Order: sequence, then C-alpha cells, then structure tokens
Amino acid sequence: MSFAAGFWSAYSLVYDLAWDTPLTADVARVVAAAVPDDGVVVDLGTGTGLAAAALSAREVVGVDRSRWMTQRALVRGRITRRILADAISTGLPDEAADAVVCANLAHVHPDPAAVLAEAQRILRPGGTLVFVTPTEAATQRGVFRADRRCGLPLVRAMTAAAARYGIGVLAGFSRVLPASPSRISSLIRTAASPGTRIGHRRMHDLQEIFWLRRDRIACDDAGVSPRPREPSRSATPLSRGRAGARAG
Ligand SMILES: C[S@@+](CC[C@H](N)C(=O)[O-])C[C@H]1O[C@@H](n2cnc3c(N)ncnc32)[C@H](O)[C@@H]1O
Repeated sequence: MSFAAGFWSAYSLVYDLAWDTPLTADVARVVAAAVPDDGVVVDLGTGTGLAAAALSAREVVGVDRSRWMTQRALVRGRITRRILADAISTGLPDEAADAVVCANLAHVHPDPAAVLAEAQRILRPGGTLVFVTPTEAATQRGVFRADRRCGLPLVRAMTAAAARYGIGVLAGFSRVLPASPSRISSLIRTAASPGTRIGHRRMHDLQEIFWLRRDRIACDDAGVSPRPREPSRSATPLSRGRAGARAG
C-alpha cells in the first residue's frame, strides 16, 4: 500500500468526525440545489459521501480509490453504487452522467487538470458539473470558528478540530500535499469554455462552489456538432433512472 493510500484509509476512520457538521451539510444542500432532480450523478472523490449526502434519493455513483471511505458512503446511504478507481480514469463511458460532482478532491490530486478533463468527458451535453474546493481561509482555526458559528457544540467542535489536526500531521508524513486554493480556482475558471455557463458561490468563507453546464443549445446554435468520440476501452455501463442497486 502506498503512503497516500494508507493516509486515505486512516483518514476514513475519522473523516465524518472531522467533517460531518452543519457547515458541510450547508455545502451539500447547495450542491444538491445545483443538480437536476433525477438521472445519474457521479461524485468524483466521493469519500464518505458527505458532498453527495443531500442527493441520496437519486442514483449517485461514488468514484474513489479508497475502499474504506466508500464503504462508509454506502453504509450511510449517501451513494447508491461505488467505483473503486482513480478519478482521472473512471472507466465510465463518455457522456454517461447527467451531473458530476467533484468536492474537495482536485486540491489533493496530483493532476487536477486531468480530474476536470475526466469530469467533462463523462458529463452529457446540457449536464451540470459542480466543483467544490477549499479557500485559503480553510485553516484549522478558520474551520473551527465556522463550525462554532454554524452551531456545532463546543465539545463536538473541539473533537472535530482534534481529528483534523491529527490528519494534518499525518498528511505531512504521507506526502499528501494539497495544491494552493488559488491554483484550483483559476483552473476551474479557465475551464469555462464558450459553451459553458459558470456560477460561483463562496460558503462560510471556507468553500468555493463552481457550477458549469455543458450547453447543447450553444453548440447547436453555432452549428457545431459535438465531436464523435471513441468509446472508452474499459467502459462501465451506468443504468439511467433510480433503479441502480447498491453495489460494491
Ligand atoms: C478530502 S476527501 C473529499 C471527500 C468528499 N468529496 C467530501 O467533500 O467530503 C478526498 C477524497 O478523494 C479520494 N482520493 C484521493 N486521491 C484520489 C484519486 N487519485 N482518485 C480518486 N479518489 C481519490 C480520497 O480517498 C478521499 O476520499
């Protein structure tokens, strides 16, 4: 097992202790509001499924390299199915998803541009891509204060802070070194192509949420047909609708 894989396995033990808070629930509600009511949602780097938690009534496919993280997401009913894979090679067919969520992954991934490219590849025209990334204010102290402002009781907020502090130390040892928030934010802004509308919201000063829509009408108006693509070699079919069974 690599250092990074060991790190995410260890993190899974305390992830919800650190982050299952009113603050995160607020972000999940905004994510849910940005995504259409039905269809297939793919959550890249799903972790324990916190960003997808408000989407649980839909078909939510969680992609993550960590078996332990995703096991929690499944058990808690935050995703309906998981794919254990790198977020830059999901194995999903082109245009398989009605919406793609990518929360708090790009800044810890060695190739954030490739994550964005994979998200766009699996998104259908007209679909929505929701990107969530921490701001420069998301320090240990900043998160603790925001937890308290959002009503987390003192003892619970201290426990969450202790878990985050321990994980921060472990991240250094495991060489999981996050990219700067401004780098990720400018990457997403640059990715907004002419056929894409972009929305943006900063929440509790700690999380930036961007949403992009692949716009079929804009393509048609310009008389440009989407480029035909080769089917992915290891394509994993997705059922459409809500019948997706829980699977591991
Ligand atoms: C900070 S957590 C975010 C979890 C969740 N999206 C959230 O917002 O609470 C990052 C997640 O990305 C996963 N991850 C890290 N590197 C990955 C990779 N190369 N491919 C897929 N998932 C990865 C980790 O296992 C972890 O579950």
